[in-house]
Amino acid sequence: MPREFKNYIDGKWGDASSGKRFENRNPANWDEVLGTFPDSNASDVDRAVKSAAAAYDEWRLTPAPKRGDIIKRAGDLLAKSKEDIAREMTREMGKVLLETRGDVQEGIDTAYYAATEGRRLFGHTAPSELPDKFNMSIRQPLGVAGAITPWNFPMAIPTWKIFPALVCGNTVVFKPAEDTPATATRFVEILLEAGLPDQAIQLVNGYGPSAGMPLVEHPDVKLISFTGSTQVGKLISTTASKDLKRVSLELGGKNAQIVMFDADLDLALEGVLWGAFGTAGQRCTATSRLILHEVIHDKFLAMLIKRAEKLRLGNGLEPTTDVGPVINQKQFDKILSYIKVGKNESAKLETGGERYTDGTCKNGFFIRPTIFSQVDPEMRIAKEEIFGPVLSVIKIKSIDEAIRVLNNTKYGLSSSLYTHDVNSAFRAIRDIEAGITYINGPTIGAEAHMPFGGVKETGNGHREGGWPVFEFFTEIKTVFVDYSGKLQRAQIDNQ
Ligand code: UN1
Repeated sequence: MPREFKNYIDGKWGDASSGKRFENRNPANWDEVLGTFPDSNASDVDRAVKSAAAAYDEWRLTPAPKRGDIIKRAGDLLAKSKEDIAREMTREMGKVLLETRGDVQEGIDTAYYAATEGRRLFGHTAPSELPDKFNMSIRQPLGVAGAITPWNFPMAIPTWKIFPALVCGNTVVFKPAEDTPATATRFVEILLEAGLPDQAIQLVNGYGPSAGMPLVEHPDVKLISFTGSTQVGKLISTTASKDLKRVSLELGGKNAQIVMFDADLDLALEGVLWGAFGTAGQRCTATSRLILHEVIHDKFLAMLIKRAEKLRLGNGLEPTTDVGPVINQKQFDKILSYIKVGKNESAKLETGGERYTDGTCKNGFFIRPTIFSQVDPEMRIAKEEIFGPVLSVIKIKSIDEAIRVLNNTKYGLSSSLYTHDVNSAFRAIRDIEAGITYINGPTIGAEAHMPFGGVKETGNGHREGGWPVFEFFTEIKTVFVDYSGKLQRAQIDNQ
């Protein structure tokens, strides 16, 4: 019998009020059920939010360095269980063990960074325009934060949101992706083991419309941090803005790697293989377009196809596997339909383009690494997010054209340029419309202590990671202390 996982609401593990459950299966072997999970609805969310609101005062009044100590312990526990969690995560969402280990490591790094922020959370002091008066700004939490997270980084992304939210003194209701609830459960168990007060974290499993939206709509939720599609992000933004909630959105991408004629081609090749086909292309930061200078176009494309065809598909737990399955039937169908779109748009399918069913892969959602060449920048496969192992190759004649083509989508998350020309590199840094630009590195490679996020329809201006995320999870209070013992009127008595 598969394990029956629970919600964690009001300090207790329990079922959804409806008693309904959903299954979680292994995308590499659809016959393998990893567990069943509570299919929660608005009444479960309401209980969780009320409990998190009740816990808020105690948590916000806990000194921030102490809150940080708990997050530090959570980081230690993640480190201790890294291998176990990584294996479980590979079974749950398919990416190879090397990458699920990296995913947990990103959570550990985030914990250690967030823990020390408990000793900063800096405000400002500034001189007053009046004598015997002290001016400062301090940072305060907001209340209950809702975290709605995707399946592609089942540990890293929840930690990006929840550790900073907690260090800042907010309590959290966590609605993880329905495809990766086991990793989410593990994360909550670790937070509790680390000493987090019972009600400071609440776990509500379920689907977006029935469990996610009630969280966004709940009047006692003050902030929402969401990572997922642009379509859902817009819906969340519109809904939350009715109550003037603060919302951080991390949405779609259509990231490109540019390779100029003077680039180190071997290096650029390793970059694009990792960027396009790692996590089977299911990252917001995946390389989905390759923009090649005409001088190296044919040579580089040939090198790439040769290597892409050698990538081994399989179960991510096998050390020989390079590329795992895609997450579920819906994504699988969507990716294959985009491959059809590419063919119909008369791009040239160079390799891949179909399901892979050899050996043990017959029960999983495997798609061969796919490369289209002769892609026009106006084609749909050059502009729309596919979220799978599909790469569109576009030929250009100059760095200016490369940047123009790169910018020709509604998204702007990550970008990459391979060149030895420092002038081109700095032009690209200035002119590329993206939240992240890599020079001589692939489009993947976030580090926990650096801001992460995008421009245009990739987000709404906030950043995760690094220092800005602590601004998102706090509000500024401006404080004036007048110790003159008399009424001093700003703008009047100092004239
Ligand atoms: C995402 O795809 O949502 O370096 C996040 C990177 C990854 C994070 C990607 N570690 O881009």
